[in-house]
This record gives sequence, C-alpha cells and structure tokens, in this order.
Amino acid sequence: MLTNDENELLTQTNAGTPMGDLYRRFWLPVMLAEEVPTVDCAPARVNVLGERLVAFKDTDGRVGLLDARCPHRSTNLFWGRNEESGLRCAYHGWKFDVNGTCVDVPNAPEGATFKDKITAFAAYPTQERGGFIWAYLGPKESQPPFPEFEINRVPDSHRHITKVLLRANWMQLMEGELDSSHVSFLHSRVDKGENPLAARDRMQGAMFSDATPTWLFKDTDYGIMLGARRNGEDNKSYWRVNQWLMPSFTMIAAKPGTPVHLQIRVPIDDKSSIFYRAIWHPTRPLTDKERWDAEHGGVNFPEMIPGTYLPKENMDNDYLIDRASQRTTSFSGIKSVPAQDWAVQEDMGGPIVDRSIEHLVSSDAAIISVRKRLIKTARDLQEGTEPQEPQSGSRYGVRPIDLMLDEQAEVWDGAREYLEAKAW
Ligand code: FES
Ligand SMILES: [Fe+2]
Repeated sequence: MLTNDENELLTQTNAGTPMGDLYRRFWLPVMLAEEVPTVDCAPARVNVLGERLVAFKDTDGRVGLLDARCPHRSTNLFWGRNEESGLRCAYHGWKFDVNGTCVDVPNAPEGATFKDKITAFAAYPTQERGGFIWAYLGPKESQPPFPEFEINRVPDSHRHITKVLLRANWMQLMEGELDSSHVSFLHSRVDKGENPLAARDRMQGAMFSDATPTWLFKDTDYGIMLGARRNGEDNKSYWRVNQWLMPSFTMIAAKPGTPVHLQIRVPIDDKSSIFYRAIWHPTRPLTDKERWDAEHGGVNFPEMIPGTYLPKENMDNDYLIDRASQRTTSFSGIKSVPAQDWAVQEDMGGPIVDRSIEHLVSSDAAIISVRKRLIKTARDLQEGTEPQEPQSGSRYGVRPIDLMLDEQAEVWDGAREYLEAKAW
C-alpha cells in the first residue's frame, strides 16, 4: 500500500514531475523505425511523456524529433511536407531542420533575417537502433551513454517487435509483469487441457502446478534481478530469473537457446502507454515459426485493428470475453494471453490505479521492490543526485533465464553464466 503522494510520484511523467524528470534521464524507444522508413518519408506523430512531437527522416537519413507545434501559430507540423533536408509547415511554409533550426520563413518579406530568431520549441536527439527510434528528452548536460540492449546489436532478421497502444498508466502495466503468481491463475485453464504457455515450454509446467512462488532479489547497476522459485519435479527448484531495467524495461525468462524477450512501456501520457514486445535470437535469424508465433501464434498474440496499434480485443468489446469458455475451459475466458493481461491491467479502477487501497501479500514482493527503487531514485534526483542507472548503459546487455536447479543451489551462481548477453 502506498500513500497518495507515492502513487502520484510513480504515475505522473510530465516534465517537471519527479518521475517525469527521472524518465528524462534515459534513452527511450519512442517509435518503431518502420514508422519513418525512408528518407523524405511522411512525418509521424510521436506522443510521449505528455509531449506532442513529430518525427521525420530527412534527405540525409537523419531522424528529427521536434515539438509538434509550429512556432509561427502552433499548427501541428505533422501535416507538413518533408522535403530537402527539413520539415515545412503545411500552414504558411516555415521550415525546420532536424536540429529544430528554422531555415525558411517564406510568407513575410522580413523572413530572410527573422528566421534566425526562431527555433522549434524542442528538438531531441535520436538514434535508430534495434528496429526502434530512440530519443533522449532530458537536459543536454545529463545525456547518458546509449543503453546497449542486445536487440540493438542483432540484424533485422534476428528480431521481431510488436507495438501496441494500451489505455492505462505505464506503471500498472509494468507491475503486471513483475507479478509472477498471476500466471498460475489468469493464464491457466480450468479443464484438463494443455495450457498454451505450458505447451510452449514444458519446463513452464511447474509454473502452473505451484501457484505460490517465493522471491529473491538482487540489486544491479541497471535495476533489479528478480528470481521467482517454484517447486519443480524430482526435488528440483524451478527458477525464473527476470530482469527489470530502469525505468520500464522487463525481460521475461525463457530457457537457454530460445529467443530472448524484452517488454517495454513508454508513457504517452498518464493514462495511456505504448507497449513494445520485442523478441530476438542472439545468434541466428528467427525461424518462420518463431516469427509467426511472435505475430499471432504461440501465445495467441491478438491481431491489431488495421492501420492502428490497437488490439482487436480491447476494453470497448470486453476483450471478447467468452463466459461459456470461462466456465469450462479457460480461467479468464479471454482468448489471447496478452489480452488477458491487458484486461486486468487496463481495468484497475480506471487507467490510474489507486495504490492506497490495495492489500499486498508476499507474492507481490517484486512489485514492492521495484516501486521502492523507483521512488527512491526519483526523490534523490529531486534533491540533486543524478541516477546511476542511465550511466550504466553498457550494463543493459543482459538476459533473463529460466532453469531447473538443485534444491540447495544458489540461484545467482546457477544463473550467472546465462545472464550476460554473449554468444551461447
Ligand atoms: S503555423 Fe506553421 S507556418 Fe504558420
Ligand atoms: Fe501475464
């Protein structure tokens, strides 16, 4: 249970709020690279951390990310023309380059000199890496090194990213993934049929037979390693070691040799978020089956409404819940596994959950430890102590792992060789 102040601190990400300032110390994936696929392509809207921005790839292949309001009379530069190394406003033709410099004011005789007084309201540095456009929205003097996620080092053929727009605060979405015990309920079946997650990976069967994981945590330079232990077969312990990387990156355990998962939430504003689900294989292209699974197979990823990032199963249609199936087959009655998560995450008394009325138990320990670290880091920053985590960019190249260990084995020892992103 949190105080109202703590709840507010965790959920608000506009500039000038404690969490908003903390977010503005990190490189964030603000859009897919495919949204600005070629030089001089159509500009794209980017809404992030309460800011309305526009992105464009200029004639030289540089990606500009500007405040969307034109400095002349504030119309959205999204309507503009991306031409000859700059974005030209559709309203009266003012033109800006990727640095936000005004290079043309053609609708007034004084324009030739007046333009030198004008810049975009904001122009943020970007990098195209790993299938994303990353941006840094913070103060120039605090710009950290680039986070070396493994996905940024593999070629296109080795990775797949899904982008989804969810209507809830980023933190409650992320808490859904720091919550290992829900898997044994929300994603389970009530008949004797095989659970799709257990079927995907036999070892995960333990996840459904033991609904009361115990937790071990290890603080790291970049976040927290979260070890959830369950009873496995033959007196073994089944460990899932997930990674939480500040501020909103989680890596979900899968066994060695299989694709690595990274899930990211980037706040659009306090009530909606972009969710990315990225998978990659470190050493080979994804197989057709892995790619298909990532798109719609495996755990039944829901389809999107064409031309949008909105899932077809969503709040407006109660995620197509099937109450007959809920009685006889599936614990939730919602077909796709991600939509099961979204239903419970988006509908927690609204898009911003009130954590002052919750009742936590021991299986919520991971949520508690991540909240504490975020609250402390955000408060420290308010008092002038810059966060260490973004400076540890080279340490972001880690993996999660799930594995069976002898009952007495120490999990951090047993998992160590799998947790660094290096060749298998
Ligand atoms: S509003 Fe953009 S040029 Fe006038
Ligand atoms: Fe889930």
